[in-house]
Amino acid sequence: GPVIDLDLNNIQGDILSGFPKKTETNYFFGIDNPDLFKQQLKNFIPLVKTVAQVLKDRKKIDDHKNAPHLPGGKPHLIKLAGVNVGFSHAGLAKLGIVDTNLLDTAFLGGQAADAEGLGDPGSGTGPTFVPDWDAAFKGNQIHGSFLVAGDSHPTVDSKIREIEKIFGVNTPKSSICHILSISGDVRPGVESGHEHFGFLDGISNPLVIGFDQKIPPGPAPVHPGIVLLGRDGDNDSTGKPNVRDDWMVDGSFLVFRYLHQKVPEFNKFLSDNSLQLPGLSKKEGADLLGARLVGRWQSGAPVDLAPFEDDPDLVDHPDKVNSFEFTAERDFQKICPFAAHVRKTNPRADLEANGISIETKRILRRGIQFGPEVSKQEQREQRTIFARGLLFQCYQSSIVNGFQFIQKSWANNVNFPPFQKTPQVPGFDPIIGQGANRKLSGYDPNDPSKELALPADPWVVPRGGEYFFVPSIKGLNEKFVA
Ligand code: HEM
Repeated sequence: GPVIDLDLNNIQGDILSGFPKKTETNYFFGIDNPDLFKQQLKNFIPLVKTVAQVLKDRKKIDDHKNAPHLPGGKPHLIKLAGVNVGFSHAGLAKLGIVDTNLLDTAFLGGQAADAEGLGDPGSGTGPTFVPDWDAAFKGNQIHGSFLVAGDSHPTVDSKIREIEKIFGVNTPKSSICHILSISGDVRPGVESGHEHFGFLDGISNPLVIGFDQKIPPGPAPVHPGIVLLGRDGDNDSTGKPNVRDDWMVDGSFLVFRYLHQKVPEFNKFLSDNSLQLPGLSKKEGADLLGARLVGRWQSGAPVDLAPFEDDPDLVDHPDKVNSFEFTAERDFQKICPFAAHVRKTNPRADLEANGISIETKRILRRGIQFGPEVSKQEQREQRTIFARGLLFQCYQSSIVNGFQFIQKSWANNVNFPPFQKTPQVPGFDPIIGQGANRKLSGYDPNDPSKELALPADPWVVPRGGEYFFVPSIKGLNEKFVA
């Protein structure tokens, strides 16, 4: 194939490599004084961690893990922080940066303007629609976001102080105003890496040609232009390369979604609707239902490979954990419901065996959990008292093709995936699908035509979000600095 030279010193670090992190803060700000901001930004750019630097950090962590330590003692985490920055369309406008060639209608309007289309709850319709979101995310007041990740709260907090100092926050020489910070933490102990419903996350992300060295069996790797603007694969709908300005090249769009999760309610539903199959206890029937709604067991084992019983061994094998296509039973959904979350969001052979490529619809997911573990009281009362959920983040070269398409045209679309030779309507993605009269078919392996009504109050509740452009280092230096 063609030689692809990705400039890893030019790309912000979280995009391709993902910050190693135990905790992460999204620091949302407005720009009050654009000229001053452009001057101060010069001192900030050296703090931005690139992909090359993140790879070095990861090596440091590995070396440290493998270093000898006292018997019985655990190696400490090494102190590490990563900083990235992104700008909303309103932010670029405030800086006087013309972004016509970003070519993304979702980005141009901002996420609040997109909320009705995404199916978020709210009031009014059309131009008068107001999402039922936290106030900070309404009204296009967020101009940018500092993403600060690290090994601990003190490390992240001191990085944030350093950033605030550069921009003079809380002094008369301040160019920005702090709107709000949202912090997330990896869950404790054995739940580390699992999202709050209990499922292992971060398993299936697209591998990027020219970046990822090992390509285990699974979905085809994507061209770098699926994530990075101006690179091979960043094409328009006719397959012609998009025309980008120089400062846009190697940048990426970041979607942030503030998604609350109602964990006790989710668990109650699974228990109330436990699959009563021969030989299964009530608990096992509830676990099986959960696995069929997600398309993976809590362990991460794919339902397509382990349909009726968990097989956690699959998760320890990089050659197996993502090596499935939903081909075994495309027309019957005895093995995996059409609407299962991982099938809705990456339908694999459902489309590709019908000659439709999924490449342009793939996203690089990052993100982290927020909020405490479920308390005894919440468990007892089977209702949420303390806010918790997912700070969902994903990167793509087109929000319209990536996040927006997956949410609107797949997760919320009851007829997706298509082409099955059965009259059964797939229904909503039970985890993230939004709309009226939510239900899905295929939850019961013994009678896939049976439909399961989902609660009118969804378990995943969007409380805000924004779309950001995350420029390259060159882009920052050449376009954003005065
Ligand atoms: C995969 C949970 C929101 C897109 C997964 C997995 C879990 C999960 C457990 C399987 C692990 C993996 O393959 O990495 C959740 C939860 C969400 C949420 C609890 C909300 C609180 C979203 C949203 C989107 C999305 C908003 C996009 C619109 C995906 C994609 C995959 C995935 C693309 C990978 C599918 C594959 O390649 O097999 N999610 N997710 N998720 N999710 Fe979500």
